[in-house]
Amino acid sequence: MQRAPFGRPRAVITDRLDFAAELARQAGDLLRQAYGQAIQAEHKGEVDLVTEHDLRAERLLTQALREAYPGDGILAEEGGQSGSGDLTWVVDPLDGTTNFAHGVPLFCVSIACLRDHKPLLGVVYDPLRDELFAAIAGGGVVMNDRPVRVSTTPSLDQSLLVTGFPYDIRTNPDNNLDHYARFAVLSLGVRRLGSAALDLAYVACGRFDGFWEFRLSPWDFAAGMLLVREAGGTVTRADGGPDLFAEPTSILATNGRIHEAMLEGLRRVSSTG
Ligand code: IPD
Ligand code: CA
Ligand code: CA
Repeated sequence: MQRAPFGRPRAVITDRLDFAAELARQAGDLLRQAYGQAIQAEHKGEVDLVTEHDLRAERLLTQALREAYPGDGILAEEGGQSGSGDLTWVVDPLDGTTNFAHGVPLFCVSIACLRDHKPLLGVVYDPLRDELFAAIAGGGVVMNDRPVRVSTTPSLDQSLLVTGFPYDIRTNPDNNLDHYARFAVLSLGVRRLGSAALDLAYVACGRFDGFWEFRLSPWDFAAGMLLVREAGGTVTRADGGPDLFAEPTSILATNGRIHEAMLEGLRRVSSTG
């Protein structure tokens, strides 16, 4: 095992975390090698792309997981659900496909392992910066072996935020544009990186103070939500509810200090429609 993020043995989950970290690096290497070459993208939807590299990276991950842990289930973005068990791997082989396909250097590999919708481990790997974020439930979070924490920014008006927009932005009026406009004036600024898993990793290490988005899929946020919680942050639905996996999904992940103010901002936009 190369550069395992947690040294001490912590039973079954630590084992899987080390394995997931190594796999994320392998899939990331594959993406890094392909990055910058002419990339053919196909449309899954009007503004939703997939490339052969999403598929290759996913094959690498799912085959290795199936071999190593045949009793676990897998939920992967491109291949869907396969197998079932007490534990389920939730895999996004390339989060930020649109960036990747356009040569924008913001994308990552995201791997989580869940029991009953509770992430037990999460790994997010950015292959271009060689940044590996890894968390185990109750065990904190590291970036390349160094413990990280959420920011200490005390108020919304001093906060740097990040968000994303759903793939049905052209057809669904509930498309986050009103929320974006509101937080753009309430905060220091709102970024849009194009990778929800990286957005969450950046909240976990204090680069951003808060992130929200609507209608994400479990593979977009399962690893990142654990990173933020283990870094001392707060993660809820955008309406403050606890179940991030309930449809339609929504997420609000913050440093904790600005959570109430952001919930209030989200509520106001929703109630004024
Ligand atoms: C997308 C990214 C993006 C978010 C989209 C996701 P993909 O994932 O995370 O930031 O706004 O909703 O679907 O398609 O690049 O894996
Ligand atoms: Ca994704
Ligand atoms: Ca993806």
